[in-house]
Amino acid sequence: MESISSLLQEHRIFNPSKEFSQNANIGSMESYASMRQIANLDPLTHWNEQANKIHWFSKWETILDWKYPHAQWFKEGYTNAAFNCLDIHKNTPTMQKTALLWEREDGLRQSLTYEELHSKVCLLANALKSIGIVKGNVITIYMGMNPEAIIAMLACARIGAVHNVVFGGFSSDALRDRINDSSSVCIITQNATLRRGASIPLLTSVEQAVKECPTVQSIICKDAINIESPLIQDWDTILLNQNDICEAEHLESEHPLFFLYTSGSTGKPKGLVHTTGGYLTHVRYSFEMVFDPKPNDIYFCSADIGWITGHSYVVYGPLMHGMTILIYEGALNHPHPGRIWELIASYGATILYTAPTAIRSFMGVGNHIPEQYALDSLRLLGTVGEPINPEAWMWYHEVIGKSRCPIVDTWWQTETGGIMIAPVPGAVPTKPGTATLPLPGILADVIKKNGESCQENEGGYLTITYPWPGMARTIFGDGERYKSVYWSEFPPNELHQGMYFTGDGARKDEDGYFWIMGRVDDVVNVSGHRLGTAEIESALVSHPAIAEAAVVARPDEIKGNVLIAFVTVIQQKDMDLSTLENELKQHVAKEIGALAKPEEIRFTSSLPKTRSGKIMRRLLRELVSHGTISGDTTTLEDFSALEQLRPDEE
Ligand code: PRX
Repeated sequence: MESISSLLQEHRIFNPSKEFSQNANIGSMESYASMRQIANLDPLTHWNEQANKIHWFSKWETILDWKYPHAQWFKEGYTNAAFNCLDIHKNTPTMQKTALLWEREDGLRQSLTYEELHSKVCLLANALKSIGIVKGNVITIYMGMNPEAIIAMLACARIGAVHNVVFGGFSSDALRDRINDSSSVCIITQNATLRRGASIPLLTSVEQAVKECPTVQSIICKDAINIESPLIQDWDTILLNQNDICEAEHLESEHPLFFLYTSGSTGKPKGLVHTTGGYLTHVRYSFEMVFDPKPNDIYFCSADIGWITGHSYVVYGPLMHGMTILIYEGALNHPHPGRIWELIASYGATILYTAPTAIRSFMGVGNHIPEQYALDSLRLLGTVGEPINPEAWMWYHEVIGKSRCPIVDTWWQTETGGIMIAPVPGAVPTKPGTATLPLPGILADVIKKNGESCQENEGGYLTITYPWPGMARTIFGDGERYKSVYWSEFPPNELHQGMYFTGDGARKDEDGYFWIMGRVDDVVNVSGHRLGTAEIESALVSHPAIAEAAVVARPDEIKGNVLIAFVTVIQQKDMDLSTLENELKQHVAKEIGALAKPEEIRFTSSLPKTRSGKIMRRLLRELVSHGTISGDTTTLEDFSALEQLRPDEE
């Protein structure tokens, strides 16, 4: 990877304000640096201390059992995630505090105290038991962003069932694949969710999916109407006669808490397995470090629970800290472009955690929109999911944070479970566009292909050089793939015990700050959603008119990237390409979900390939980004393929 000239570097530095630092958990660079030094010299002692901050029914003997590439953290310990989110607050004032503030797009609102949330979780946990769910069963949750979705996750956790949340924007086909791959026995869903004024019929998708899901024995549906299938039970009815006391199951630290499917560079989504004790330890710790929680905070994370951010920093992290969490069901700019700012102003939100794509789109509608709302309650701003460009960072800082609120740019992944690289806001100076430094106890580096560390500002592969407690333990049902995707790039040698390969490119600057340069594999971030190009290609070629497909990303000012698909068609008489383009977009939406629809489809008679038959996506990427091709094309089999793909010749 190329070195980056110092001319391109960002020199603006923002120190935490005195006011923020004075009230912060870690309020100076000195205390941060000393904590980091101690933690990094002896990560096991550090994690041992952090694990002691969560509740355990009984403690562990072994901090880490590492047998490359498999880790077990605190393995003899017994704990429970729902207990750590709810029961630990018993006999404290938190129990009477608001846990959840929910608002839907149409203005419907609900709030639940910790006590009420606890009681609802117990009711559902008992209901699950009553239909035969036992520890270790997998339950797929397919819901909108509402309290019931969170209750469902915690009810599973309480009894040791493994939750598998599938984002409500995925199609019934994608849902079916995730139900089948995870061998789910039960689905928890709702009749419909609301988005941009439209009712999205989730139950209909579930009913469609389960026609081909032999393992599913029951469906619990919130607001079910006209139930026809004997599989379906209404949420309210099944909860009616349940007891609201349900002892939390004592679970081994390594008991799986959840599966979460994410895209990789091959066609099939991977079910990452996250376990209990280590995950909770990492998420509790990172939440404390990065969000510096205060008892009066109103914390607003705009992520959906269908993604890892929703798991770690809407549900588990904030609840373990007794936070008041604001959640919103719907689109943040609907029914008007200032909806998000209206929510912040009306609830007095103090922390906002959102994605750069959202920030760029808010920026695009003009400052006069946020300026209509009082945003003075905000004290801390966060971003996640994709690199943030300095312009959007500055806008977030000045227009939303009024140059007062620190920005925490947090780098992490579904696989890492929790935040890995981010500034500790009371201590670490920030620069627009960098996630700054790994949290104390997290060891990260930028590595060359040969395994050596890169020089300052030299681009390379972002790796994690020592296990951490929140790490995914495996890919469900495919341990080999887990090893080959994450742990084979830099296998153990005399210097280290194996390094985790993130799939991201990065560089470290003169202050040791990490600048994430995007994916180095065929995974693309579109609007902060992670998509595998291979997944979309396989959806395209499943259409009867398509022979071959190659999908690449084109940088986009708002969405970060958009997808451009190149396809070759199986010749059919009188084919109308614009009709086919629409049909293909709909086809991808059906196979995966609307979020995966390509922005543009380009038809060609052949795709550029190497002599060994591999599609040269690099060339296609260059073509869509710059409209021209440079560099080495000597391995191309057929130059004429390229000529046809140039936009002016389409
Ligand atoms: O490429 C990185 C990007 O998002 C990827 C992980 O996606 P996912 O598993 O869906 O998790 C997203 C939410 C944690 C990473 O490999 N990414 C995530 N955060 C950042 C980022 N890129 C740059 N800066 C970030 N702060």
